[in-house]
Parts: sequence; C-alpha cells; structure tokens
Amino acid sequence: MQKFLARAGIASRRQCETFIAAGRVQVNGQVVRTLGTRVRPDRDRVQVDGETVRPETLVTILLHKPAGTITSRSDPQGRPVVTSLVQPGGLPRLFPVGRLDWDTEGLLLLTNDGELANALTHPRYGVRKVYHAKLKGHPTPESLARLTRGVMCDGEPLRALRVELLHPTRQNAWIAVTLEQGRYRQVRRMCEAIGHPVLKLIRVALGPIRLGSLPRGQWRLLLPAELQALRALVPDADSSGA
Ligand code: URA
Repeated sequence: MQKFLARAGIASRRQCETFIAAGRVQVNGQVVRTLGTRVRPDRDRVQVDGETVRPETLVTILLHKPAGTITSRSDPQGRPVVTSLVQPGGLPRLFPVGRLDWDTEGLLLLTNDGELANALTHPRYGVRKVYHAKLKGHPTPESLARLTRGVMCDGEPLRALRVELLHPTRQNAWIAVTLEQGRYRQVRRMCEAIGHPVLKLIRVALGPIRLGSLPRGQWRLLLPAELQALRALVPDADSSGA
C-alpha cells in the first residue's frame, strides 16, 4: 500500500505510512490502517483524504543543466528554473534529484519516482558524483592532495574521494573531483580553501550515469539499463515495483 501511494507521487513512503496509520487512506471505501496491505491497482479504488489516487507512470530523465538556472520547480524571484527546460513533451510532473548551484552545469536527473530520488540523495548510500572543475591558477600536487585528506570549511570537514589533474591551460587547471558527500557548494568551498577558486563547474557523472555528449540545455529519457544500474545502487529504495 505505502509503495503504491509513494509511486503515485502522494509523498515519500515513510510519510505514506503515517497517512495509513492515521486512518487517512481508504480502499474500496474502507479505512485501511494496516501497513503492507496489498493493492490491485487495476481493480481497487484507493483514496487519501477522500481523493482518488491515480498511479503515475514512473519517468526519470537526464538533463544537461546550463549555468544560470535554478534547481527547482519554481523561483519566487522569477529566475529560470530547470523544469522549464523540460516542459514540452507530455512528461509528468518531475522533481530534481539533488541540487546543482545556479552557476554549475551538467548532469541533473529529474524524476517523479520519489523513492528513487530520496535514496539517491540519502547520505547512507554515498552515491558518487564526478565533477570537472576549472580552477584559478595551478594547484600543486600537495594542495590537490589536501582535497582527499580533507579540509575544514566553516567548521565542517569536507573530503573528496578522488582528485585528478586533467589538463592545465596557461592561467588555469582543470581537475576531476569525485565526491561521496553532497554538502552545500562543496566543490567550490573545498577549492576555495586550498586557494584555487572554481571558475567553472560541470557535473559529468552520478553513480553509473554519464553526461556524455548531451548538449547543454537538452534532456533525454534514461535507458532501461541505466535505470537498472541506478536501482542496483540503492536496492532498499524498491521503486521498481518488483
Ligand atoms: N559542488 C558545488 O560547489 N556546486 C555544485 O553545484 C555541486 C557540487
């Protein structure tokens, strides 16, 4: 039951459990308070607070977020939001999985699968994210090593799993940073702490999903194999319906 409600986009599975316990859920007109009650989506009429629940098809897409967009569905200040880039196409209401800064570009997943989104952003799973960062100046190997040893930023220990020097230009250096953590502006704060501010930041991978050559501002559906690989990362999320 709670899985059915979560998949229909009502709320997270945990929240749906509280709705059931509170007697807000009815099946075929009867209040059901037992977690795990079986639902036959084709035959049973399920209501929450008297409203009939219609199961949604689960959709997950990959967007190449451009810089200068907000990772949100709406912005009180009227700035461009990522979901406005995927409006056409008859997609259901999608929500960003995690967050990229206004000035960060690259791989952003959007989904209506609340279970999958929660799991992918939960620190328990430590899903790996890879960023390419253009730094001001040329960091020494020693200062890059500080990123994997850990740096204190505003009293918070931040650490990269892996850092690799990609290629230097005359004034700058490009590095690849792999994170398991996902703290606020983490790459920018860490690089600032070693004295090399980030000039440009692109997320190129999230777990098994790669940005590849998808042009900036474009999106595509995830392939079945990509979805399977994502779900294998977060087995407890169980949004597959299996
Ligand atoms: N680290 C940052 O500094 N910004 C992002 O958007 C993501 C990771």
